[in-house]
Amino acid sequence: MALAAVPAPGARVLEIGCGSGAVTERLVERGAQLTVVEQNPEMLRAAQTRLAAKDSGTAVEWLEQTASEVDALGHAAFDAVVLSLVLSEMSASERSFVLRESAQRLAPHGRVVAADEVLPIPRIHAGLFRLLRAPQALAGWLLVGSVSRPLADLPGELERAGLDPRSEERWLAGSLALCVAEIRP
Ligand SMILES: C[S@@+](CC[C@H](N)C(=O)[O-])C[C@H]1O[C@@H](n2cnc3c(N)ncnc32)[C@H](O)[C@@H]1O
Repeated sequence: MALAAVPAPGARVLEIGCGSGAVTERLVERGAQLTVVEQNPEMLRAAQTRLAAKDSGTAVEWLEQTASEVDALGHAAFDAVVLSLVLSEMSASERSFVLRESAQRLAPHGRVVAADEVLPIPRIHAGLFRLLRAPQALAGWLLVGSVSRPLADLPGELERAGLDPRSEERWLAGSLALCVAEIRP
C-alpha cells in the first residue's frame, strides 16, 4: 500500500482515517509528506504517539476532522490519497462524496490507493462470507461502536468518482482488496 502511494520520497500524501497509525508509519518510512485526517481523537493521539516514538524527522500534518470535511483541503494538493479500511465504515453517500472530493485534490498523475473489506466474487461466496463475518461485525460494534460493511464494487465506486481504476489485488479468499485508481487526464 505504501509502495503504491509513495513511489518516491517526497510524495505528498493524504491519509484518511489513520486509526492507530500502522499505515501512517509505513508512509512516513517511505518518505511521504503526510497530511492525516482522523475523526476519532483517541485514535489520532495513538497515531501521533506511535509516530513520535519513531522520530523520523518528517513533520506530519494532523487534522482531527471527518473525511466529509476533505473539501476544505486545497485542490491538486496531493500525489496520493490513501484510504485503508475506512471506506467500509462510511455510508454510501459519504463514500461517494469523499471519493469525488479526493479525486479533485489530486495533482496531475495523482492516485487514490484504497484497501478495504470487499464482497468476494462470485455472489454465492458473498452470501456465505456475510454469514461467517456476522459475529466479527457484532464484536466490532459492541467493542468500538463502529460498523464496517464490505464493499460490493470498490473499482466501480472509484470510477464513478471520476477516477480510472488501474489495478485490483485481492487476498483472504477475495475478501480484502487493494485498488489503485489514477486521475483521468
Ligand atoms: C479500521 S480503522 C483503520 C485504521 C488504519 N487506516 C489502518 O488501516 O490500520 C478505521 C479508522 O477510520 C476512522 N474513520 C472512520 N470513518 C471516518 C470518517 N468518516 N472520517 C475520518 N475518519 C474516519 C476511524 O475513526 C478509525 O480510526
